[in-house]
Amino acid sequence: MRNSGYGAKEIEVITHDVLIFGTGLAGLRAAVEIARKSGDTINMGLVSKVQIQRPHSVCAEGGSAAVLREDEGDSLDLHAWDTVKGSDFLADQDVVYRFVERIPKEILLLEHWGIPWSRYPDGRIQQRPFGGHSCNRCTLAQDKTGFFEVQTLYDTLLQYRNFSRYDEFFATSMIAENGEFSGLTGINMSSGKYVVLRAKAILIATGGLGTLYGFTTYSQTVSGDGQAIAYRAGLNLEDPEFLQFHPTGLVPSGILMTEACRGEGGYLRNAEGKRFMEKYVPAKMELAPRDIVSRSEMTEILEGKGFKGPGGLDYVHLDLTHLGADKINRSLPLIREVCMKFNALDPIVEPIPVRPVAHYSMGGIEGDINGATSMRGVWVAGELACHSLHGANRLGANSTSECLVWGGITGEEIFKYIKFDPALPKLSQDRVDAEANRIYVELLWNKGSENQYEIKRELREAMDQYVGVYRTGEKLSMGLKKVRELKQRFSKISIQDKGMVYNTNLINALEIANLLDLAEALVLAALNREESRGAHSRTDFKTRDDEKWLKHTLVSYSKDGPKLGYKPVTITKWNPVERTY
Ligand code: FUM
Repeated sequence: MRNSGYGAKEIEVITHDVLIFGTGLAGLRAAVEIARKSGDTINMGLVSKVQIQRPHSVCAEGGSAAVLREDEGDSLDLHAWDTVKGSDFLADQDVVYRFVERIPKEILLLEHWGIPWSRYPDGRIQQRPFGGHSCNRCTLAQDKTGFFEVQTLYDTLLQYRNFSRYDEFFATSMIAENGEFSGLTGINMSSGKYVVLRAKAILIATGGLGTLYGFTTYSQTVSGDGQAIAYRAGLNLEDPEFLQFHPTGLVPSGILMTEACRGEGGYLRNAEGKRFMEKYVPAKMELAPRDIVSRSEMTEILEGKGFKGPGGLDYVHLDLTHLGADKINRSLPLIREVCMKFNALDPIVEPIPVRPVAHYSMGGIEGDINGATSMRGVWVAGELACHSLHGANRLGANSTSECLVWGGITGEEIFKYIKFDPALPKLSQDRVDAEANRIYVELLWNKGSENQYEIKRELREAMDQYVGVYRTGEKLSMGLKKVRELKQRFSKISIQDKGMVYNTNLINALEIANLLDLAEALVLAALNREESRGAHSRTDFKTRDDEKWLKHTLVSYSKDGPKLGYKPVTITKWNPVERTY
């Protein structure tokens, strides 16, 4: 190796039974499940690129969907139907049933573990309306639900002892041999040390890829690292073209103005002051599913009925002024605080400027109904995964619920696997060394004139411009060309900081490499899918085409670029029908 300060002798190798890669809701829920099932006999390493209690899950605001009151008109069938219809019939229906059956128990488990769910005056757990759901089933803790869920799970985990934390650990690759997981390589950011974490099993639950877009609700830490690593290691991406735009991103920051604002009775108004949803979905108004509300907003804006915003971020109004101070302070305190701090406006008396914003990826690493992947010893959960629950469009509040459900399921599955005492897989030293070489020699000492930050800026601009709410073949082709050009240019960057401690210059470059690979897969899959379904809306193929496209996209990695494949949708109960509300 070149004189980078690193040699094989300095590589630290640490072994656990299980790695939990990503400590958001899904990862923490799995860790709790493994700990309580094994009574501390299974030894876990919890790996996070941030501090363990700062995953992006803490930003989840609105709540978790679950049927808690069948006696009040809700039912598991209805939750399943809403999810399938919301998915534009691309969800796998066996998976949907697994989900709706398990989530009520997860809500009660959190209750027993101490979460401060919001309550009705009579003491029952409160549930609010959310888009696309036929009943009030969004279980909430004010408008800070994700924060309280993460806190409760971490507190619960602290009852157990058999885990080690790897905070601020940037994973760079997953090593697999003969279809079996053998280790995770990464950088301990505080020391700069190259570390290999070995284990018999790994759960990958590192979340989404939302900083691929410039206008986004995601924390800047969410750069698709786990997805990109798993994809390059040989796991398929499934349905990456389905990217959700949430209807209410605060202009200009993109911060989430939770759907709970509309669940609590907020209105959307255009520049003429009209509640324009009346024109598009009069029966559901502001509580239509997200894909439809986002398209409606964009149509208003494109027809010149929006407000002029900074940097082309034209917007509509989210109006809460009729809700009154009491309701806003009680149910939407975070929204008020954010509006006051970021936009110097008080939603009690003024409308909020909002527009569609990149929020969630329905696709992800292909996992089966148990979260297992095609690689032995690897499970996936949370937003990173695609179990085919959300299909082409996710319903609000089904995401935190998904994390809880598949955190629990994968925790159980991993526990069963470890109980049978599989051998620790062999680790190839050549692979470990090759990865060290890629990071500390090829990348760190690369001599080029390209500026990585400029590449990132252009990537996000291109995604905003070419791969947004409304898509066309022409725009997507331009987007793909741009991503490929940026990949070329990325090979000519140079890292200015050669230091080891918190080398954010190097980490940022590794993140961009991840985003570029994922962008290429997403745009290619979007270009390939010649129909409109859910969040994938093509103005050159305006309708859903079940004959050709009632199938999942699979994308596999190759050095020459992504390869496309397909798999069928599992339909157990409802054949696709026209999706009207
Ligand atoms: O609007 C929200 O609070 C977001 C919820 C979700 O994405 O499920």
